[in-house]
Amino acid sequence: MNCFPWVKDSSKKTKNNNNNKMKYKTLDQNYDQPGSNNDNDAKIDTEDDAVKVAPAKVDSKEDAEQSAVTKESKVGGGVDGDNKEKGKSKSYKLSELIDASDNFNMENFLGEGGFGKVFKGKLKDTGELVAIKQMDSDGTQGIREFVVEMMTLSLVAHPNLVKLFGYCAEGNQKLLVYEYMSLGSLEKHLYGPKRKGLDWNNRMKIAAGAARGLEYLHDKMNPPIIYRDLKSSNILLGENYHPKLSDFGLAKVGPTGTNTHVSTRVMGTEGYCAPEYAMTGQLTFKSDVYSFGVFLLEILTGREAIDHRRPSKDQNLVDWARPLLRDRKNIYHMVDPEIQGQYPAKQLYRAFATALICVQEQPSTRPRVSEVVKALDHIVSQPYYPQSPPAQSTTEIPVIS
Ligand SMILES: Nc1ncnc2c1ncn2[C@@H]1O[C@H](COP(=O)(O)OP(=O)(O)OP(=O)(O)O)[C@@H](O)[C@H]1O
Ligand SMILES: [Mg+2]
Repeated sequence: MNCFPWVKDSSKKTKNNNNNKMKYKTLDQNYDQPGSNNDNDAKIDTEDDAVKVAPAKVDSKEDAEQSAVTKESKVGGGVDGDNKEKGKSKSYKLSELIDASDNFNMENFLGEGGFGKVFKGKLKDTGELVAIKQMDSDGTQGIREFVVEMMTLSLVAHPNLVKLFGYCAEGNQKLLVYEYMSLGSLEKHLYGPKRKGLDWNNRMKIAAGAARGLEYLHDKMNPPIIYRDLKSSNILLGENYHPKLSDFGLAKVGPTGTNTHVSTRVMGTEGYCAPEYAMTGQLTFKSDVYSFGVFLLEILTGREAIDHRRPSKDQNLVDWARPLLRDRKNIYHMVDPEIQGQYPAKQLYRAFATALICVQEQPSTRPRVSEVVKALDHIVSQPYYPQSPPAQSTTEIPVIS
């Protein structure tokens, strides 16, 4: 199914490497009705340890078109008023960033996305390594993302969210300065030449860490935040494959009070966008959970969310995976050939089951991210040891649905 049936303008095309994914923006269209409160009761039923889901936390009324930035600046943001690590973004001079990146030398080029080019740099005064994101000078959407990103990241602090050191706004130049993530994006490890390094244990560690970052945004932030841009290129890896979520330019304050969704323009990346959000513009926390399920399928199968090089019926990862997952034996054919046979079979099943429930068509049947964290933490607690017996033949696994 086309995730974006009424797209007007495909505004940004990612230019950084191997894919032809599109970031979309649509008609600046308003939707009016807040949803009914039925979006909060899914559970992950991974075999013996079914996990119950608590009702969604609700706080106060929220303006439907308000971005994360405006609301947070009002409340001071963050968890329990703890701002020790927050609000520290510094304003850099352009000359400092030119020095740091050797005048944006292409030798320091890290990649390019919809926002602009990203360069590695070394700050002359502190010696710190940084990633400098330079906004393309083509339009207001970039400026909005710049501001939302700057404000959101200066108000959050979590080990699984990338740190924003500061920004630079001089004339037309808009730049963001982040901590440098030495192993780059997960996307590069899954689909690029470095992919051999990613074994089962690291994959699950990355998935669990990304889930914790998302849980922080959904359940620990006050007001809660919907990320809206979860995908493998936005999961950055530090030493030992420590994952952090990046790119908060599309983040929105979540629904509060009796509302279960916020109404907004459809923004996101093809293949990751929850179908109900794409169809109606109604954004919920479960939209992020859907995107998380897509990312989990990616990390399990080594297949891209959308791959136009495949036959048309197999191009969309979710459409390809859902029918196959009706038969539990298929997981052995679906798993990334890079890790074929090198995983604990029972945990492979649990991971696929978790991904499957996250990408359920109905938002109410998707789990909350806190339940996903529990499921993935359990999987991480049962790592793969190379001396384990061959995966396929010895372990009984239960039926997925
Ligand atoms: N903090 C960072 N540390 C190291 N590398 C980074 C950092 N931030 C970005 N990069 C690199 O730059 C690339 C481009 O990132 P960017 O977020 O601009 O684009 P994208 O995620 O590929 O696409 P999109 O614009 O849709 O988010 C990333 O894939 C990553 O390799
Ligand atoms: Mg990105």
